Amino acid sequence: MTTSLNWWKGGVIYQIYPRSFMDANGDGIGDLAGITSKLDYVASLGVDAIWLSPIFTSPMKDFGYDVSDYCDIDPMFGTLADFKALIDRSHELGLKVMIDQVISHSADAHPWFEESRQDKTNPKADWYVWSDPKPDGSPPNNWLSIFGGSAWKWDSRRLQYYLHNFLESQPDFNFHNPDVRKAHLDNMRFWLDMGVDGFRLDTVNFYFHSEGLEDNPPVPAGEPKTMGAPHDNPYTYQRHVYDLSRPENLDFLKDMRAMMDEYPGTTTVGEIGDDFPLKRMAEYTSGGDKLHMAYTFDFLNKPHTPDYIRDVLKNMQEIVGDGWPCWALSNHDVERSRTRWGANEDGEAYPLVALALILSLRGSVCLYQGEELGLPEADVPFERIQDPYGIPLWPVFKGRDGCRTPMVWDKSLLGGFSTVEPWLPVSKEQLPLSVAEQEANPDALLHKVRQLIHWRQQQPALVNGELSQRDVNNAQLVALVREYQGERLLVVLNMTGESQQATVGADIMTELQGHGFVSTLNGQTLTLPAYQAFFAKLS
Ligand code: BGC
Repeated sequence: MTTSLNWWKGGVIYQIYPRSFMDANGDGIGDLAGITSKLDYVASLGVDAIWLSPIFTSPMKDFGYDVSDYCDIDPMFGTLADFKALIDRSHELGLKVMIDQVISHSADAHPWFEESRQDKTNPKADWYVWSDPKPDGSPPNNWLSIFGGSAWKWDSRRLQYYLHNFLESQPDFNFHNPDVRKAHLDNMRFWLDMGVDGFRLDTVNFYFHSEGLEDNPPVPAGEPKTMGAPHDNPYTYQRHVYDLSRPENLDFLKDMRAMMDEYPGTTTVGEIGDDFPLKRMAEYTSGGDKLHMAYTFDFLNKPHTPDYIRDVLKNMQEIVGDGWPCWALSNHDVERSRTRWGANEDGEAYPLVALALILSLRGSVCLYQGEELGLPEADVPFERIQDPYGIPLWPVFKGRDGCRTPMVWDKSLLGGFSTVEPWLPVSKEQLPLSVAEQEANPDALLHKVRQLIHWRQQQPALVNGELSQRDVNNAQLVALVREYQGERLLVVLNMTGESQQATVGADIMTELQGHGFVSTLNGQTLTLPAYQAFFAKLS
């Protein structure tokens, strides 16, 4: 049963990208006061929590995923007092607040790194991963940065290489050093004491590296490249045996959990990028003594064919066991789902049934700002691109700006986001889908999403039940049974663009209404029009 303490189990978390949510001070960049002014809207969606992408002091080379002070708010977003006001208002509205902890690496502008790079003997000398070159001067091993090139950068002051899994300006911490581990836990405690309800843990399996610095092996010939990357990135050519997902991480996550447990009702969701993410999810979230949840990429980059969905669920069941996934269709790193899955004749129908799918699975759910509006990916021209990942790879990979453009609150030129031209352009194609336009149109997707989320929160079996798959003699349909405290609920989803029929079984007791989808049940024969879902109580 979901209680106020385990609200996160089966909860819906609304992800806010603060730079692009709402600009209250008119500088073209979103801020905390802007977010607070829109919390009533967020609460109206029926979600349980918000997750804020990083708001900490940062040189912003990776837009906040490069932190230079873990215990302060970047002035561009506001102050600690603004953040406290945001927490208080969220709690008044019944929303939990989760923040993004980026502790695998810091910004190179962090005073700890400034100190560490001075020489080999300073008190922070061992806080980052430093290594001598090979005798020929080249980097210590073959590890690669996800953002391109070697993961090692030469530092001409310290005369050593340092490790960076992402940008050169994001040096990796040395988690083998107990002082580093303690410093990060202390910083997290700072926010827990202020009242936050949980953390999204950025790149949670990257904390430790192998101290032997062994070369990673290549992906064996004939085996799939399993490391997710948005294009043919050489990072995917290796099996990441030595640079991430090291066994020592489990002990650290246990220490973190012990601290979290001192703050009842708080939670963690870890982002796991790994060759074998489900295996890692099982390790990190089972047993109730490490992470609460792990974020899954399963529906972020592959087409949702019925066979693919069945495979994901089967693997999840077999590998993850009692672990707890957190599902998502979109986030600040991937192309917006409406565009990613292609157009259909009714552009809004697919996003809704896809949302119904993840709201029907065992696990929690993240909804990315603007997903409730069915926003398509914005087309950001090259001269406006900001993402350091996208600039060198444009136009093959245009970076992540297309999903990060300002939220469209109304159809005015700047989308009601700001009074000046924002840091990324407002997408003209998105304006007709603005919040104000959709609020005024009773048939708009926003109302359907709201209805679906509220309806689902009233179904304990969907929030908390165990999941099994059901055969309904039509492979185009996805059919699931969720079971909770003796109640069994059947879910049938038509993710295709054609009407489908199936025999659903004799055990249907009551067809459930109120979710907003349409279907016809004739005896045991179900007809589901394109992109519709069916829910029923079973005997
Ligand atoms: C975040 C990215 C970020 C990277 C480095 C991620 O997985 O979601 O936005 O660039 O970590 O911190």
